[in-house]
Amino acid sequence: MKIKIVEHDREKEIDIYSKEGLLLISELWTKVSCHNRLMYEPSWLGIPIIQFPEDIVIMQELIWKIRPDVIVETGVAHGGSAILYSSILEIIGKGKVIAVDIEIRQYNKIAIKSHPLSKRINLIEGSSTDEKIFEDVKRLINKGDKVLVALDSSHSYNHVLKELDMYSKIVPEDSYLVAMDGAQAQAWDLPSGKKEWKDDNPLKAIEDFLSTHPGWESDPYYNRLVVTSNPRGFLRRKQDNKNY
Ligand SMILES: C[S@@+](CC[C@H](N)C(=O)[O-])C[C@H]1O[C@@H](n2cnc3c(N)ncnc32)[C@H](O)[C@@H]1O
Repeated sequence: MKIKIVEHDREKEIDIYSKEGLLLISELWTKVSCHNRLMYEPSWLGIPIIQFPEDIVIMQELIWKIRPDVIVETGVAHGGSAILYSSILEIIGKGKVIAVDIEIRQYNKIAIKSHPLSKRINLIEGSSTDEKIFEDVKRLINKGDKVLVALDSSHSYNHVLKELDMYSKIVPEDSYLVAMDGAQAQAWDLPSGKKEWKDDNPLKAIEDFLSTHPGWESDPYYNRLVVTSNPRGFLRRKQDNKNY
């Protein structure tokens, strides 16, 4: 079976069962999902989470593998991802989530704080790139803790690059820093998209971070479901790396 697409006046026909077909259909699905705001549909244990189901499953895999002592999340929104991460930690039997957001609305705060998993969550209100807030985060981390970071706050290039630079410093060897929403780079030409997203997006920040930090690599294993909001976003700090 073939699919014919017309993109910006260029026409191409692709076998849907080829590798190229998988990549194309996944990209189209991501675009159409974003356009229909499907990432706002899921909830996790009763709290709305702004993620594609594929990314929820993959984060569960990563947390189960790394078994972190601390998960630092920037960008809390309703709190669904903080609850997701703490639910996996609860099953592992250890660990806490430090969740930072520039504004945690009162009703979200109440919902998170009254959730059975709230005992594993520390909320911090303020900008993730504010040095004072970063110090607050670090104060909650003990020496030797295995830290995993998920960046999901503002998705501008400058903000994500700054977050990558700051938060990469608290990730130990062999752990991960997940930079989310690189798919904004594919969303600029949606009817609801913004032209500036073509260059102003987390994916570009990820590429620039990787090109200047040889001690880091993007792990394609966590992008193998192809449909994702986080292309090239699973960044692993290599072993024995002194160049981070
Ligand atoms: C995409 S939502 C987070 C979704 C959440 N991680 C989830 O999966 O359900 C982005 C959040 O980032 C927050 N935000 C925006 N700019 C920020 C900043 N400079 N520092 C911290 N949080 C920020 C917004 O308030 C918003 O709640």
